[in-house]
Amino acid sequence: MAAYSVTEHYYDVVVVGAGGAGLRACVGLAQKGLKTACLTKVFPTRSHTVAAQGGISAALGNMGEDDWRWHMYDTVKGADWLGDQDAIEYMCREGIPAIIELEHYGVPFSRTEGGKIYQRAFGGMTTRFGEGTAQRTCAAADRTGHAILHALYQQSLKHKAEFFIEYFVLDLIMDDEGACVGVVAWCLDDGSLHVFRAHQTVLATGGYGRAYFSCTSAHTCTGDGNAMVLRAGFPLQDMEFVQFHPTGIYGAGVLITEGVRGEGGYLVNAKGERFMERYAPHAKDLASRDVVSRSMTVEIREGRGCGEHKDHIFLHLDHLDPKIIAERLPGITESAKIFAGVDVTREPVPVLPTVHYNMGGIPTNYHGEAIAPTKDNSDAILRGVMAAGEAACVSVHGANRLGSNSLLDLVVFGRAVANRAAEIVEAGASHRSTPKVSLDKALARLDHFRHAKGRLPTAQIRLNMQKVMQNNCAVFRTGAVLEEGRKLIEDVRQSMSEIGVSDRSLIWNSDLLETLELDNLMAQAIVTVAAAVDRKESRGAHAREDFPDRDDKNWMKHSLTWIDDKGHVTMDYRPVHNYTMTNEVEYVAPKARVY
Ligand code: FUM
Repeated sequence: MAAYSVTEHYYDVVVVGAGGAGLRACVGLAQKGLKTACLTKVFPTRSHTVAAQGGISAALGNMGEDDWRWHMYDTVKGADWLGDQDAIEYMCREGIPAIIELEHYGVPFSRTEGGKIYQRAFGGMTTRFGEGTAQRTCAAADRTGHAILHALYQQSLKHKAEFFIEYFVLDLIMDDEGACVGVVAWCLDDGSLHVFRAHQTVLATGGYGRAYFSCTSAHTCTGDGNAMVLRAGFPLQDMEFVQFHPTGIYGAGVLITEGVRGEGGYLVNAKGERFMERYAPHAKDLASRDVVSRSMTVEIREGRGCGEHKDHIFLHLDHLDPKIIAERLPGITESAKIFAGVDVTREPVPVLPTVHYNMGGIPTNYHGEAIAPTKDNSDAILRGVMAAGEAACVSVHGANRLGSNSLLDLVVFGRAVANRAAEIVEAGASHRSTPKVSLDKALARLDHFRHAKGRLPTAQIRLNMQKVMQNNCAVFRTGAVLEEGRKLIEDVRQSMSEIGVSDRSLIWNSDLLETLELDNLMAQAIVTVAAAVDRKESRGAHAREDFPDRDDKNWMKHSLTWIDDKGHVTMDYRPVHNYTMTNEVEYVAPKARVY
């Protein structure tokens, strides 16, 4: 291995990722006097949160009656009873002050006539425990993520969090007692290598949508933090649950917000039928995403798809007042024009369910502390690691996330991480010397790919992986298709030994960067398929045609997946928290999930 020189930096806390969760954590950490570094592979305001459109949920009650307990009920039901109810209670209750805090940070929310934060309807959000439709999703037109991200970046700077921009984190540094003491990172701009020592490392690295061929996720969504946790020998949780958003633009995968349906838009098949009335008689187009995506897939499968190839669905908003479209949905108006050539005031948008969100990730408690389950303690803490946002599995989304609960998750748990870190980290405490074994391992991995001289380009292997995931781990699944997927993805993994990287430089070597990202994606793809093969029931986004029913007796439990250097997966399970945090709300007992 080449000799690498490494610069050491010392912080109380290091945050990896500058999306909504990472930045909200930074604001709180810096505010509480902890010396905080944020490492991000893209400029903060280009993080994928910027693409979040429709809004952020919280029972503010600005548009009618609401209660955080109803929000909790909806979230438990949306999650198909795989969510941890203590964490869900925390998120729905804390969501209200978290939004007010965002307003005070300067987020330019859309307003009602009376000057309150505007809230729209979203799928699965109801009043009175399922009786009515709630308008609970706080919006800044259809650019809510953009508005939040900019405000949080400004606040982070104001409180003097330090940013290391276009730094790609290679791995966690673990001491010989199994605790994380920081990270090793590669500065993409000048090729230098850095160790960031920290008493807590917060992974806010987002999801791994790019394991799939068609997704709404940015190219940067490669789940880097998840992969680091796997490489450090710890498990990921509930990886079989991958959300398909019903309305990705056909052919492009670009998101058209659920807010369109919240504002009165609806889906039709080739016969012009509003088919959701058959699948979800009460909620119709505003049923939860897994239900809508499956219904669309059935319509297409049964020959009622739209277009020459009968392979997509139409989303109508051409009946809405153009003034409302211009005011509340300007972003998707532009996206539909650019990516589908459609004027939404006159024509429907061709759409298709598209990979959008990973419910699974790094298991954490509601403080954001990572969990490393042992035989005797399924809630044992992984020392030195915290996680928030899509990288984490708290688990508030269980088997299916409700739209607009994601931005809420980012800010509530980003804030929780900062609060907890302030309790457990002593500002300015000294660091012991950097563990050499762990650092050398991370550098050896970099060196291995940097000098890879095989015949297969990274892009080819990535495409092969994406095709397997798209074909074999999709909206509907069967044992046979998943088993085939397991074999195919193992073949793709093995082809990594023939990978070739064209450039040996460490300065702006995008080929090497994409190769390291591919290695991260590959591990997550493998554990996703393995967990999907193992779970023999249908729950939320995991729809097994060979096991069509939810099976609470045998399967109301979180999956845990480990992977070793040879791609061998080990699985276990830990209990779902089927208890609340306080007596302010009742446990939501499982029942049939109908919309
Ligand atoms: O449809 C949307 O605007 C997406 C929101 C979300 O995923 O929460």
